[in-house]
Amino acid sequence: MAPPLLPLFIMLMLVLIPNPIPQSHARFTPKAEDLVTSQSGGRPACDGRWIHIRSLPASFNTELLETCDAFPLMDEPLCPYAANHGLGPRTHNRSRSWYRTDPRLLEPLIHRRLMEHPCLTPDPSLADAIFLPYYASLDALPFLYSPPLFNSSALHALPLYHHLLSDQPHVYSRRHGHDHFLVLAGPAWDFSQAPDADPVLWGTSFLSRPEFFNLTVLTLESRPSPWQEHAIPHPTSFHPATLARLAAWLARARRSRRTTLMLFAGGGGGGGANIRGSIRAECENRTDLCQMVDCSDGVCSHDPIRFMRPMLRSSFCLQPPGDTPTRRSTFDGILAGCIPVFFEEISARKQYGWHLPRDRYEDFSVYVPKEDVVYGGVRITQVLSAIPEAEVRRMRERLLELAPGVMYRRHGSSAGLRAIKDAVDLAIDGVFRRIRRRVRALESRQLVVVDDAEEDGDDGWMDGSDLYGLR
Ligand SMILES: *[C@@H]1O[C@H](CO)[C@@H](O)[C@H](O)[C@H]1NC(C)=O
Ligand SMILES: *[C@@H]1O[C@H](CO)[C@@H](O)[C@H](O)[C@H]1NC(C)=O
Ligand SMILES: *[C@@H]1O[C@H](CO)[C@@H](O)[C@H](O)[C@H]1NC(C)=O
Ligand SMILES: *[C@@H]1O[C@H](CO)[C@@H](O)[C@H](O)[C@H]1NC(C)=O
Repeated sequence: MAPPLLPLFIMLMLVLIPNPIPQSHARFTPKAEDLVTSQSGGRPACDGRWIHIRSLPASFNTELLETCDAFPLMDEPLCPYAANHGLGPRTHNRSRSWYRTDPRLLEPLIHRRLMEHPCLTPDPSLADAIFLPYYASLDALPFLYSPPLFNSSALHALPLYHHLLSDQPHVYSRRHGHDHFLVLAGPAWDFSQAPDADPVLWGTSFLSRPEFFNLTVLTLESRPSPWQEHAIPHPTSFHPATLARLAAWLARARRSRRTTLMLFAGGGGGGGANIRGSIRAECENRTDLCQMVDCSDGVCSHDPIRFMRPMLRSSFCLQPPGDTPTRRSTFDGILAGCIPVFFEEISARKQYGWHLPRDRYEDFSVYVPKEDVVYGGVRITQVLSAIPEAEVRRMRERLLELAPGVMYRRHGSSAGLRAIKDAVDLAIDGVFRRIRRRVRALESRQLVVVDDAEEDGDDGWMDGSDLYGLR
């Protein structure tokens, strides 16, 4: 993918971005002073970037936060993690940046963040993108965790569609929904069952229903051939509110003594030839080089201390697929400066093009095909030990430079921290790129073709010095 890409980027830049933001500002959000002037008063940073937040009945969002525990098959209550606008409760009373974050609450978290977006407009006809504050994955819980409703899972979200067609219908119809976006806090796999599946297996049909084909949907993991969804980082537990706290953490990760070569934090891996089983066997055999953190039965999910400390002490973090190809642990590890080792391309490179530059994975991660380990006798410890120490240090530096872009800063952060693009800012940039292409195609009556490789022609990644910059 490397050689022909740059000219393509440049072409795309010219075609896609009528008013390119100057490069040096490409990764900056507009400043607070910009916010108080009127929209017509010309805020160049907001040109082409106005967002309108649809106001939806509470049954589509806040009411779902009150009923999120009520399902027989859920093993642990979910509602407590809705605290602090979806960040979850603080890990302990005096912690300032660390929360018990549950990724399933990413919908209220991003909703809250967008409410402080610098380029909001109350007028949908002036908006370049329309955000639907629909808590889509919370609304799916009954269909996933309540057996009597399994057979109705094709109905997930249809009330939203009917609402869009009946309440101020011109807002939706202006661009047939191509300018609408929302968050679906889960892997696409949970929401892509064919609407006519018989028998029903698993998941709702949100991503398989033509009613929703025109929307842009932010998910934690996308399908191998995504249509309307794009993957964004799983939220970690780290949500600083100031630049100083972010910098202090990154400095700690940078200077942390790494006494273990590699770490595997996870559960499973028992039975059969699979990559988790191979990792476990090798780890148990090489306790001098490998540490395991047992996360069986979900004991790690709301307890970051269990794995963040070990991640700070390890050079590499093994990130094999779990129930689905991607893992939250990848992002915990990035924040800890623990270099990810991937075993499948679909674990990250094919997912997070808006947040991690697809063509530079070699700079900050290691790839060991899982077949080589499970069937080819390749030892992960040998592959990793063979990487020279200077190279490891360079990779860690690259990784920590990318870390701010996968972190979800707290709402109400300081102006200094807001000047750095975090996971939400990069996601919104991606949403605008995608919507721009779709609206242009719509206006020129072309077929809308989603080509992710092109879409990830990230203008934000164009300038090398900016790429890894922590400003
Ligand atoms: C944390 O604070 C709450 C209320 O402020 C208090 O009830 C609780 O006991 C405190 N927990 C600890 C571990 O100090
Ligand atoms: C769901 O549908 C299947 C047939 O597809 C049927 O066997 C099953 O009893 C139904 N379950 C409920 C709870 O209605
Ligand atoms: C999706 O957009 C196309 C135009 O690109 C339009 O014809 C179609 O009706 C839209 N679908 C829905 C469900 O709005
Ligand atoms: C365990 O270690 C020994 C020697 O260190 C090696 O010969 C053997 O292949 C290893 N087994 C696994 C599963 O890594």
